[in-house]
Amino acid sequence: MHDLLQSSAWPALKARRDALLGTDLRTLFRTDPERARRMQASACGITLDYSKNLLCAESLALLLRLAAEADLPARTAALFAGAHLNATEDRAVLHMALRAPPGREWMVDGVDIAAEVHAVRRRMRAFAERLRDGTWLGHGGNPITDVVNIGIGGSDLGPAMVCEALRDQAHPRLRMHFVSNVDGVQIGDVLRGCRPETTLFIVASKTFTTQETLANARAARAWLIHHAGSAEAVARHFVAVSTSAAAVAAFGIDPANMFGFWDWVGGRFSLWSAIGLPIMVAIGPERFDALLAGAHAMDEHFRSAPLAANLPVLMALCGIWNVNFLELPSQLIAPYHQRLHRLPAYLQQLDMESNGKSVRLDGSAVPCPTSPILWGEQGINGQHAYFQLLHQGTQKVAVDFIGVLEPGRADEGLHRIAFANLVAQAEALMRGRTAAEAEGEMRAAGLPEERIRELLPHRVFGGNRPSNVLLLERLDPRTLGALIAAYEHRTFVQGAIWGVNSFDQWGVELGKQLAARVLDELDPATPAVASEAHDGSTRGLIERYRAQLAC
Ligand code: F6P
Repeated sequence: MHDLLQSSAWPALKARRDALLGTDLRTLFRTDPERARRMQASACGITLDYSKNLLCAESLALLLRLAAEADLPARTAALFAGAHLNATEDRAVLHMALRAPPGREWMVDGVDIAAEVHAVRRRMRAFAERLRDGTWLGHGGNPITDVVNIGIGGSDLGPAMVCEALRDQAHPRLRMHFVSNVDGVQIGDVLRGCRPETTLFIVASKTFTTQETLANARAARAWLIHHAGSAEAVARHFVAVSTSAAAVAAFGIDPANMFGFWDWVGGRFSLWSAIGLPIMVAIGPERFDALLAGAHAMDEHFRSAPLAANLPVLMALCGIWNVNFLELPSQLIAPYHQRLHRLPAYLQQLDMESNGKSVRLDGSAVPCPTSPILWGEQGINGQHAYFQLLHQGTQKVAVDFIGVLEPGRADEGLHRIAFANLVAQAEALMRGRTAAEAEGEMRAAGLPEERIRELLPHRVFGGNRPSNVLLLERLDPRTLGALIAAYEHRTFVQGAIWGVNSFDQWGVELGKQLAARVLDELDPATPAVASEAHDGSTRGLIERYRAQLAC
C-alpha cells in the first residue's frame, strides 16, 4: 500500500504550505483576479467555490498528485467494480448500485445484484403507496396517520435528515417521527402524541441486534399490544428493515413485513436502500426516485470527471490540505437553510465513523491526522453562538457553508437575509479586519483616541480563515441526493488517501460490550459489584445508581 509520507507530493506540499503561510487569502485574491473563477467546480445542480482556501495553483496540483500517488483512480474503479474494499469485514461497498437506474449490471461476488435491488424497491413502493393513499389499515380498520421510525446511527440519521430537508413535499396526512434515543424520554414523547390504532412502526436495523433499537421496539410493541388488547395487532402496525430475516422473525415481526438489504450497504451509506422507507413514505416514490437519480448523477460525475474538475475530489483535497498541512483539527458544517439543520449530525456519522481511524488497511499506524472533528448546526444560529471563536479564537476551523439559491416556499426577503449572512460570514473569515481598518472605523464613529487605543486589539480580526461555499440551485430531492453523494465520495477519497478502511467501525464495539455488562450490574437483584471488576470511578457510578434504585 502507498506510503503517504514517502510520496513525492507530501514534502512538496509541506514546502508549499510554508511558503503560503507567508501570505494570506486577501493577498491571493488581490494578486489574482481570476482566482474565484478558476477555483470553482459545478456538478448536478451544485457549485463548489473553494477559492477561500489558503491554496494556490501549485499546491492544488500537488494535492492532485497526492491523490494520484494514492492510486485514487484505481481505488475508485475497484469501488464501483464491487471489490471488497471493506477488508476487515470482507465486504464490497456498493451503495452506488442502490441509486443506479435499472438495466445496468452490478456484480457482487459474481452475482448481479441489480434485480434484487429493484425487487425490494418495488415492494417498498407498493407499501408506501398504500400508506399514502390510506389503504393500509391498522387493526381497527383505520388509515395510518403516524409513522415512527425506530433506529439509530445509519438507520436513523439519513432518513431523519432527508425527511426534514424535504418536508415541504411530504404527505399532508402522514406525520413522521424518529426515535433513536433509548433513555425512554424520546419514545415517551412520541407515543404520547400518537394513537395506537393509526400508528405504524418501522423498526430499522441493519443487524437487528442493536440494543437501543430493540429496546425501543419492544417498548413500542408493548404499548401497541396494551392498547389493542391483542398481539395480532403487531402484523398491521410493525414492519422491519434489516439484512437479517432470522433476527426479524426472532423479534416477532413477520418476514413478509420486512424489507431487506445487504451486507455491501454500510449503515451510514444506507439511506438509498430500504432504510430509506420513511423517506419514500413521506415524499412519495417518485420523489424518492429523484433523490436516487441525483445521487446517481453525482456518482457518474465522480467516476468520470477529471480529478481537477471533480467536485467530491476537490472537496476531499481541500479537507486534506486543511487537516494535514494547515493542521486544522475541526470542520464546521454550516447550512444556511432551516430544512438542512440535521445535515451536520448526518455528516458527523458519515465522516467520523468512516475516517475516524488511526490504523491503515495494512495494520500500520496512520502517520498523520485523519478525520477532523466535524460539527455544526444551521448557520444563522451558529453566528450568534460559536462564530466568535471562528473569527477571533485561537484555533482556526475550516468551514463548509451550504446555501440554497431558490427560496422555495420561504419569503424571498427573509431568504435573502440568510443568504447575505452566508456570503458575509465567508468573506469576513477570509478578509478579517486589519488594525488600520479598525482604527479608521472607530475614528469615523467619533471615538476618542484613548478609547480607540484600548479597543483596538479587540476589534482586529486576523482573517485568513478557510472556507468552502457549496451552493445548491434549489433544495429538491434531486439536488439533495447529489449533495449527499458528494459528501459520501469526499469521505471515500479522503479515506483512500489516508489508506484507512472507511467502511468499518470497530471503535464502537468496546463501549457496546461494556454497556451490556454494566446493564446487568445495575440490577439491584444481582450481587454487589466486585472491587476488581472495575476501576473506582466506574464502580462508584454503578453503586450510585443501584443505591437510588434501593431508596
Ligand atoms: O454503533 C454504530 C453502528 O453500528 C453504526 O455503524 C450503525 O449505523 C448503527 O450502529 C446502527 O446499526 P444497526 O442498523 O445494525 O442497528
